[in-house]
Amino acid sequence: MLELLPFPFTWVLLGLCAALLYFYLVWPYSAFKDLGIPGPKPVPLFGNYLSYGKSVGQFDRECYKKFNKVYGIFEGRQPIMMVGDLELVRDITVRETNNFTNRRVLEGQGEIIAKGLTMLKDEEWRRFRSAISPAFSSVKLKQMALVMEKYADNFVDNLDENAKQDAMFNMKDLAGAYTMDVIAGTAFGVDVDSLHDPNNPFITNAKKRFDINLFNPFMIILFLFPQLGKVLLRFGVTLFPTEVIDFFNAAVDNVINMRGGNEDEAKRVDFLQLLIKAHNEELDRGVSHELVKHGVSKKAIKRESVLFWLGGYETTSNVISCTAYNLALHQEVQDRVIEEVDAVIEKRGKLDYEALMEMPFLEMCVNETLRMFPASQRFRKEEKEARDPYAFLPFGSGPRNCVGMRLAQLELRFALAKALQKFRFVPCDRTVVPIRIKNTLSNQIEGGVWLKVEART
Ligand code: HEM
Repeated sequence: MLELLPFPFTWVLLGLCAALLYFYLVWPYSAFKDLGIPGPKPVPLFGNYLSYGKSVGQFDRECYKKFNKVYGIFEGRQPIMMVGDLELVRDITVRETNNFTNRRVLEGQGEIIAKGLTMLKDEEWRRFRSAISPAFSSVKLKQMALVMEKYADNFVDNLDENAKQDAMFNMKDLAGAYTMDVIAGTAFGVDVDSLHDPNNPFITNAKKRFDINLFNPFMIILFLFPQLGKVLLRFGVTLFPTEVIDFFNAAVDNVINMRGGNEDEAKRVDFLQLLIKAHNEELDRGVSHELVKHGVSKKAIKRESVLFWLGGYETTSNVISCTAYNLALHQEVQDRVIEEVDAVIEKRGKLDYEALMEMPFLEMCVNETLRMFPASQRFRKEEKEARDPYAFLPFGSGPRNCVGMRLAQLELRFALAKALQKFRFVPCDRTVVPIRIKNTLSNQIEGGVWLKVEART
């Protein structure tokens, strides 16, 4: 029978395989069409991934303009529904939160990330989130503010050095070092002076984690062939350099060991201590979560500490740098923040936790920076109240929002208010207008944020 075919059997087989492969690749692409959801046309294998080439943000904006508030895209074969409809955002993040508890899993990230709070699922996430949340209460943050203040003073000293030399400096380096000091101090009670020690391994390792370009071959594999991510993981190849994870893991281990049995150490007010209190040895011995309802294992403590360390660095230091940048370019706005800082300090006699909570104009400037860029005044009380609360969600919303939000807000207000107490941010020859964002996973700033500071008279 096969002999009757006009071409060799091998060609038939190859043709069949090619057809099957083609159908495998394009099969999911009807998902949104069937639901009547519009979106950009995907190409076989890549979906819309190649459109990220310009920048993810630009692609989002173009799609939003073209397809409106709800549209569908594909990363490889993975369908992703983009939702800009505020009612739907509320449904997903708050009302129907039980149906939308979990985040999307990107394979190949290694255990620290895959089993950390951001990726945990359902009951495991709920248990962990409730073990961690008390660490961010007002009482705890107030206590941590005392530790934070010390690092904010270091940050201001460093600005002072630059002011004296009339030097141009990359604000991102200073803010990054400050953020790292704060996380090390408040999350682990480890004293790091990254401002004066830029080659400190904490800084160099944390930076490595964020150099992940969306067109890095490993990222492409993870997005286009997620199953391959699992295989690579078996061979020790992960998105996050193993040596970085090992470094942070060992750092946490050291602190846990150092604190064991030391009463003074156990009185510390930091996140690690809170997690240590929630430690349940039964979980270390492999007793299942069904039997042990409360507490966390030692492995999990290490994972969460590392996650905080990694998660709080780039985010917060970017906001500090960009707010300083915006103020430098809008001197009249900076005048108003300075006025507010001076008035609150005069009233309270010091710059402490309570003082920082009384600075609505500074908060507005930070929010405007979070919203991204033009510094008009969109965040006045009346405007905030008139606006749908789901229209601006820099920290997410609902029970799965950013667990570090209040810490981050305190941290960046401390740095900015302390800096503005003494200095004025001004643009310099190296200031790039407008800021350019790298096409990386974590919105890094292209070329840094170059500024000068002038001592206030
Ligand atoms: C300006 C600084 C920061 C911004 C803009 C930010 C933003 C976000 C956003 C948008 C989310 C996702 C929320 C959602 O899905 O609804 C998130 C989650 C998270 N953030 Fe932040 N973050 C910041 C600082 C921090 C800090 C300092 C920490 C750690 C101390 C942190 C730890 C986390 C964690 C662990 C999650 C996952 C929470 C969960 O899944 O339960 N973040 N953050």
